[in-house]
Amino acid sequence: MKPDFSKVLIAPSLLASDFAKVAVECRDAETAGADWLHLDIMDGHFVDNISFGPGFCAAVRRHATVPLDVHLMIERPDHYLDRFLPSANVVTVHVEARHDVPATLERIRRADRLAGLSLRPGTPFEAVEPFLDRIDLLLVMTVEPGFGGQSFIGAMLERIARAASLRAQRGLAFHIEVDGGIYTPQAKACVDAGANVLVAGTAVFGAADRAAAIAALRPGTRHG
Ligand code: DX5
Ligand code: ZN
Repeated sequence: MKPDFSKVLIAPSLLASDFAKVAVECRDAETAGADWLHLDIMDGHFVDNISFGPGFCAAVRRHATVPLDVHLMIERPDHYLDRFLPSANVVTVHVEARHDVPATLERIRRADRLAGLSLRPGTPFEAVEPFLDRIDLLLVMTVEPGFGGQSFIGAMLERIARAASLRAQRGLAFHIEVDGGIYTPQAKACVDAGANVLVAGTAVFGAADRAAAIAALRPGTRHG
């Protein structure tokens, strides 16, 4: 059944959470209204940072009750995929990484997970076009992958709109997710352009009131 892309999902990124108390952070984010939890996996090769791995994902799985949205910013997603599948509901791989993209996407779907594909801001959109009929989610990076707390790249709005237009033209069904520098103004702009899943790390875990921070990302919320 085709997902309802009109419902905006908020996926706080645990990259911005306190790793020393991740169980509490997960429960807190869920109580605050998180629809998914986003896990930014970094290997120090594909991006200039190292975050956490399969063991951390398994620990989060033991405490979280919402879907886990695993974003593999790693050079060899095919090599490590089986270690992430048990904990993940969504697995997103990068088109720029060193793997057979359709083969990896097929493996994710065969494991009954949502298959996501992502591209860096500097990668031409054409790189993902051949795979749009093989995915359940397109992750448009709105910052250069590697670190939270960066500024949103406004030029990415055009490719969000292009993805939504191609999805409609070709009768496809994939979520459009954005990741990086998402606060209320960026959330509105991205949803208006066609995004329906919003990753937010600093905006949520850096907030004193996380429920208010999540609510402020949802469309139509009156902002004081
Ligand atoms: C970049 C990361 C960040 C993180 C969210 O590789 O993927 O985009 O999830 O970052 P902020 O803190 O900007 O929401
Ligand atoms: Zn991410």
